[in-house]
This record gives sequence, C-alpha cells and structure tokens, in this order.
Amino acid sequence: MSAPAPPMGLLAEVTHRCPLQCPYCSNPLELERAAGELDTATWLRVLGEAADLGVLQVHFSGGEPTARRDLPDLVRRAAERQLYSNLITSGVLLDERLLAELVEAGLDHVQLSFQDVETANAERIGGLVGAQAKKRAAAAMVQQAALPLTLNFVIHRQNMEHLPDMIALGTELGAERIEVAHVQYYGWGLVNRDRLLPGREQLEAATAEVEAARIRLKGRMVIDYVTPDYYARRPKACMGGWGRRFINVTPAGKALPCHAAETIPGLDFPSVRDQSLAAIWQSDPAFERYRGTDWMAEPCRSCDRREVDWGGCRCQALALTGDAGNTDPACALSPHHQAMQAAIAAADRATASDFVYRRIGAAPKVEA
Ligand code: SF4
Ligand code: FES
Repeated sequence: MSAPAPPMGLLAEVTHRCPLQCPYCSNPLELERAAGELDTATWLRVLGEAADLGVLQVHFSGGEPTARRDLPDLVRRAAERQLYSNLITSGVLLDERLLAELVEAGLDHVQLSFQDVETANAERIGGLVGAQAKKRAAAAMVQQAALPLTLNFVIHRQNMEHLPDMIALGTELGAERIEVAHVQYYGWGLVNRDRLLPGREQLEAATAEVEAARIRLKGRMVIDYVTPDYYARRPKACMGGWGRRFINVTPAGKALPCHAAETIPGLDFPSVRDQSLAAIWQSDPAFERYRGTDWMAEPCRSCDRREVDWGGCRCQALALTGDAGNTDPACALSPHHQAMQAAIAAADRATASDFVYRRIGAAPKVEA
C-alpha cells in the first residue's frame, strides 16, 4: 500500500479548559483536566513533526486555547516551521498583552466564536455572563492588530432567527469572513439535539438569508455555510475523508482522524507521547480503518460518489445506526436514512429549551 498524502491541517486541541459551556461543543463528553494535558516540550515537538510531515496549517483550538500560558510559544514554533496558524477562540480570555504576544510570535489568523448577537441569549447559550462584551472587545483588538478575522456562528433552533443580525455584526466588526455553521450532532450536540435541531421552515429561511447576503456582500465579506446533515440527501465528506486531510491531537496527546473518533468502540488511538506524527499518519491501524474505500459496504461500495464524500461521517453512522462502518444515514441511499426524519420529528415535538451544558467532570449518561 502506498503512503497516504500528508494531512493539510493539524487541529491542535491544546486544552479542554474553557470558561464557556456551549451545549453543542465538539469536545468529547469525558473532558480532559489540566493535569492530563501535554506539556510545552511535547507540543513543540509535535508542531515540528507536523511541519516535517507536510502539514500546512495548524488550528489552535480547545476548549479555549488561550487558557494555556504557553500558547505564544506554540504559535512561535508554528511560525518558525512555516505553518500557517489559526487561533480558534471564544475571545473571553484575550487581552491586549496576550494578543500582542501572539502577533509578535507570528499568529496568522483569528477565528472568533459568537453564540448569538443578542447578549442575553448569547450568554445563556454559552453559559457565561459578561462574555458578549469581551468578545466584542476581542474583535476590536484583532482588527486593531490588523490580523485577518473570521467570525463563527453556530446556528440552531434557539438562535437562528437572529441570523440577519449575525451577518450584520460580521460587517460591523470588520470580519473578512463569517462562518455560519449548523450544529454537528455528536458529543454534547447529540445530548442536546432536541433543543438545537431546527425545523424545516427555520432552515429554509436561514439558507435563503445566507444566499441573499452572499450576493449583497460579494467582494466585501465571504460567508461560509455549513448545512445540517439532518436535512441532507447526501452526506458531507466529513473531515475531507477519514485520515485524508486532517489530524487532530487531543489535550492528552491522542492522535485522531476527527474530534469524535474516540466514540467509536474497538479503535485504539495512538498517542503522540509514544510515536511520531508521521508514523501515526502513515500506518496506524486506527487511521487505516476507514481510510479510502476498501472498508465500505453497500450502498457506498458501488456508488459513484464513494470518492467524493467517502461514505460521510463515521461518528454519525455510529451514533445513529450503532455501527461506524455503515453508510452515514445523512445519505438518502442509507437504509437508516429514516433516523434523520425521526430526529427532526422528535425535535419538533420537544418542549424543553434548557440545555445540558458542557462541563468538565459532568459527562451525562447517553442512551444507546
Ligand atoms: Fe456517499 Fe455512500 Fe451515499 Fe454513495 S451511498 S452518496 S458513497 S454515502
Ligand atoms: Fe468523526 Fe465525522 S466526526 S468521522
């Protein structure tokens, strides 16, 4: 078997610590405590190994990556090794001193998340009073530092009606790009699915709003739109395909093909404490497990889109069908596609709006 092409991006989840508690967080339910995090020297080595492997971009993520005091050192190593660095942040811990250190270290880009534009609802969703003003201040500091800024809005049943104002906030804060992303339903998002999954009318209104804004703002601001799988007829190529485009490293040093991969039973993920990133990427059995098309069963195996979407998302297939090797039920050709409609109907019937918040040491029990 020939060696796989190098990953384009490294998602460096440097910590799970975070002052916010978003109920759709992509982190696992079992969150890592500070004591279990990789030390600075190991992260510096991993960044060097990523550059050696051919990685082009590193996304510093979390949790809240600015909770790590050594973040400027990590950014500096990325810059030394010509890795494009993106900081994915809630902004609430950012101050002028830290931003200046990050700029001096060579940070290339900031992606700042907002939970809503309406302050009370944003702070209810994020679970942190006072967050909205800090986020606005962070956006102003990033603009002042002349760093490219992307605003990220995760949209769902409980904030979607504010989408026009979210787009307006992007222009007001000088963002070059905004990402409007529907919740991905695994981990905390799956726990809260009934409270988050939008109705069809909400979805259609949001999609129309994005399309109109793209025309209106052409040449001024780019709008990326991540559509919801639950209304799809064909799945997305999750992570660009398993073990094809991205490698994630968790706070504790586990290397994963995607952030939810540890939910898949029977896969033993390697640690960057024990092996180089290259050795993991090129031959680790967990990375090989769903790479390419050999693992596929029907209907994917004989489908002409099998090298377009790579069978969709393994973690979603697991969550909704019980087997990560099944076709993603977002695909209308999947025998489990009905699970999507059933989830939409359940969300439409649900009345609770109170969230199960993401908290370290408070993993909820998940029914199979
Ligand atoms: Fe993609 Fe498989 Fe559906 Fe074909 S059958 S569109 S490869 S998920
Ligand atoms: Fe794991 Fe999609 S999140 S493959």
